[in-house]
Amino acid sequence: MARFDPIFQTALDHMADTHTRRVLRPVRHAGAATVIRDGRELVNFSSNDYLGLSHHPALRARAAQWLQQDGTGAGASRLVTGTTARHMQVEARLAAFKGCEAAMILASGWQANASVLAALLRLAAEQGAPPLVFTDRLNHASLHQGCMAAGVRQIRFRHNDLGHLDSLLERHAGNDARAMRVIVTESVFSMDGDRTDIAQLGALARRHGAFTYVDEAHATGVLGPQGRGLCAGHDIDLVMGTFSKALGGFGAYVAGSRALCDWLANACSGFVFTTAPPPAVLGAMDAALELAPTLDEARARLARNADHIRSVIHGCGLSSGPSTTQVIPIMIGEAAHALSFATRLETHGVLATAIRPPTVPPNGSRIRLALSAAHTDGMIDRLAHAITLATRRHA
Ligand SMILES: Cc1ncc(COP(=O)(O)O)c(C=O)c1O
Repeated sequence: MARFDPIFQTALDHMADTHTRRVLRPVRHAGAATVIRDGRELVNFSSNDYLGLSHHPALRARAAQWLQQDGTGAGASRLVTGTTARHMQVEARLAAFKGCEAAMILASGWQANASVLAALLRLAAEQGAPPLVFTDRLNHASLHQGCMAAGVRQIRFRHNDLGHLDSLLERHAGNDARAMRVIVTESVFSMDGDRTDIAQLGALARRHGAFTYVDEAHATGVLGPQGRGLCAGHDIDLVMGTFSKALGGFGAYVAGSRALCDWLANACSGFVFTTAPPPAVLGAMDAALELAPTLDEARARLARNADHIRSVIHGCGLSSGPSTTQVIPIMIGEAAHALSFATRLETHGVLATAIRPPTVPPNGSRIRLALSAAHTDGMIDRLAHAITLATRRHA
């Protein structure tokens, strides 16, 4: 035992006592929608690969081609010798996809939020007064990290309650006029699968002179015209998203004005002080951006399947929370019950992970279902059947 292990072990024991200890359980991906775990094939309903692009031949081919041509690593950060014509090509494609003047790619969504938001809020503080930062209570951990890194106190509004946001903005209207107002939220919430009304958010922000920062991690590729996200066509100042979910690869992006992106390239530590994304990752990004606008049929099927699964959940007397997207929680409550529900689903060949605190609020444990266009009708039937059987044993 190493010298400091008792500290770690005590923390782990506490997690085990409260049913919140996580363990890594390896799987082998046997396609976009199935995994092999402990020798058993399971249908994967916990992956964010919403369009099944992680196994698409076009992404594989371009990733392989760019890797063969340019090697495995970029070798330096973007501002040194890491920027290639491929980076510029992907960023131009991205800006066009998002309907923005400019875009920049970053290593991961977590890194983007943690460092872009931190840089923005520090700049805001330099305007003469500490910024007023309004955040949704259920924002992703990486958005909290960005606020914490900037040392700002968040003014939290009730989840997805724009009326409450409006009243908080109103209440703080008399504060120092130099204080920049920044609203930080998600267009689709990762654990509840509900959507922000982006048109209303944009109008409200304009009325209060606030800057809008919207995380589109779960909307990119899936929602909005041709999968361009829910912010497409709306007046949002900074849109962030990832390539790691519906776009089937890895990495993240920020889209907005040219000045914003040029400034971030100078001021965002998560961009400046990290190695540029490598060729294979760029190849997958490039192919995904080309493909995504053509996938309306897949998006329509995904939406239909999501409606069907919500009706199955409701038919079992369970709640799917406020979900209106491909992310569907089965609300359970206690962590131990969520774990045993997930185990029962697994006995019926369905992999659907239990999500427990601190990822969700206390007593908010749930099964988080993530549907994919790669799920066949047979897989969706299997999920419906498994939920019904697991509910009977749960009751
Ligand atoms: C809302 C949200 N933002 C950001 C991230 C982080 O993205 P990435 O997985 O690319 O680091 C996630 C992923 O879990 C997320 O759900």
